[in-house]
Amino acid sequence: MKKYPRTEKYDNNWVSENWMGPNPLWLLEELCEHMELKPGMKVLDMGCGKGITSVFLAKEFGVTVFANDLWISATENLKRFEEAGVAELVFPVHAEAHALPYAEGFFDAAISIDSYQYYGADETYFPCTYSKLVKTGGQFGIVVPGLTREFDKGYPDTLKEHWEGEMFSFHSKNWWRRLWEKTGIVEITACYDMEEPKEIWQPWAKWAKDNLGFNDVEFLNSDTNNDIALIVMSAIKKQTTPEV
Ligand SMILES: C[S@@+](CC[C@H](N)C(=O)[O-])C[C@H]1O[C@@H](n2cnc3c(N)ncnc32)[C@H](O)[C@@H]1O
Repeated sequence: MKKYPRTEKYDNNWVSENWMGPNPLWLLEELCEHMELKPGMKVLDMGCGKGITSVFLAKEFGVTVFANDLWISATENLKRFEEAGVAELVFPVHAEAHALPYAEGFFDAAISIDSYQYYGADETYFPCTYSKLVKTGGQFGIVVPGLTREFDKGYPDTLKEHWEGEMFSFHSKNWWRRLWEKTGIVEITACYDMEEPKEIWQPWAKWAKDNLGFNDVEFLNSDTNNDIALIVMSAIKKQTTPEV
């Protein structure tokens, strides 16, 4: 599997105590190959969960991070940021994706790891809400679980047994590209499937089976046609944007 040298600096136990899906630091490190982050930039970490991606962004790039999440409280995340020594750079915020408390054009970049599919697969979310948070010339980056192509039923037959309602937000990279590109607001700078997605997903799947009773292991094993994907997409907000 591909190496993620920045992630290797972080304690494995700390990662697995706090991850909420396939190793978020691997996904973020991959995404950051397509983003230009510099000290002083303001970055939204949307759906940060327990905030390990926010810690990574502050430590690796010296950026100021607004660590936004819904399921995890800001107070819980603040404790983690203090323990990690990044509380001066990382601000925990508890807010729902449709009721975000930020000014338009506030962020230099908005990043979302294994979260954007929960709210962003809605056609209007990007043009009406999310894109407004970032300034002109600013950057967007997401990594989402998905499929290598679209299926008439929404999923391949192999995954039928383990398919759940929320997985209907799993789409192909071309579907995600089109969702943002057709708005005319951004230029897509990268959009591809990560290599070996199931190898990336597997350590989390085993942990989640043992610790939470999740069935991600069976889900991955049932994917005999290799249709499961982890999709990386980055974009830059254009100078002039159409009225929407
Ligand atoms: C699978 S977890 C991933 C968390 C973290 N990024 C990680 O990889 O460990 C998805 C996250 O998306 C957030 N989320 C889901 N729906 C949301 C919504 N409507 N508004 C804000 N955050 C949301 C949840 O709070 C959750 O922490």
